[in-house]
Amino acid sequence: MEIQELKRIFKQCFDAEGVIYTSPGRINLIGEHTDYNGGFVFPGAIDKGIYAAIRLNGTDVVNGYSVDYDARWSFSLEESDRPRKSGSQYIYGVCREIQKRGYQIGGFDTVVMGDVPLGAGMSSSAALESTFAFALNDLFNLGIDKFELARIGQATEHNYCGVKCGIMDQFASVFGKAGHLMRLNCATMEFEYFPFNPKGYKLVLLDTRVKHELASSAYNKRRESCENACAYIAARHPEVKYLSDATMEMLNEIETEISAEDYMRAEYVIGEKQRVLDVCEALEKGDYETVGDRMYGTHYGMSKLYEVSCEELDFLNDIAKECGVTGSRVMGGGFGGCTINLVKENLYLDFISKAKAQFLKKFGHEPRIYDVVISDGARRLE
Ligand code: GLA
Repeated sequence: MEIQELKRIFKQCFDAEGVIYTSPGRINLIGEHTDYNGGFVFPGAIDKGIYAAIRLNGTDVVNGYSVDYDARWSFSLEESDRPRKSGSQYIYGVCREIQKRGYQIGGFDTVVMGDVPLGAGMSSSAALESTFAFALNDLFNLGIDKFELARIGQATEHNYCGVKCGIMDQFASVFGKAGHLMRLNCATMEFEYFPFNPKGYKLVLLDTRVKHELASSAYNKRRESCENACAYIAARHPEVKYLSDATMEMLNEIETEISAEDYMRAEYVIGEKQRVLDVCEALEKGDYETVGDRMYGTHYGMSKLYEVSCEELDFLNDIAKECGVTGSRVMGGGFGGCTINLVKENLYLDFISKAKAQFLKKFGHEPRIYDVVISDGARRLE
């Protein structure tokens, strides 16, 4: 990302200097749709993010320019001045969520640009929220802790963007650490950094470049199914607070009381919990075969039980299998975006060229390829 360019544009727009902040997008090795079920996730921040130049302007108005959308916008910090344009809504939401928690902030001028691919399942929106939550906390000396900064981003999604997401993306964006994945228990918010440097392997994303319509309403529907299944289980087992606390035996006891669809969703979530734990254990032993096997298991579950994959993602997963890739699966919320692949270095070029050619033949365009570099979380640059 060209920071000098961001500074130059800020100067052009506001005839002043801005302070530069950034927050990254994320990958997730395994543990998908588990965060809002009180389970484990295993994400890491990446070397692609959102960058913002910001200067406090002493008014109660926020003026912004988004380089990537070539859009200018302004809003006041009142609840009644909610902007309609997507993009500025995320920044507005962050401001309002900070204020709702009782902190005083004022207006600012900002220019935003980014290099997280949009709609690719790498959490560009969490990167945007975390950039502003982190920056405003710093510029106004609010003293908000990092967990709360992540929750501010999550609440922005819930209350201003219509997605009832979990905490994974914002957590990863705020807490990321170069060279490390983070295993987060989403029920307790306890987490651990795991050094991640699989010798002889590469982690690569293949981006289908499709984002299917209704992704956010389908996401919210998955969450409802899980909450429903959980409520039935909890009625018999009060110790079950989240679906991830449940076992398959408990789910089977209520099978006839819930819909077949809710059953499948819950079956996936319960299975995914064990897969994350297996992967963490295998990683510590350098057993990448088991890591990869569980990744394929997650893909199967997300495709057949949770039903958040799509033709393009399944196609890439099949090619990975054919090429002998160690592990491959749909990453993030689903309905498009990327597969994440753990591939032996000596198979890498063959896999990429086959995937590109076969995908092009079938869908009329090539997938984009991103090598994963695990990087630091939210920070002030200068
Ligand atoms: C999206 C959400 C996350 C998480 C993933 C699926 O990225 O924002 O909270 O639920 O989907 O694991």
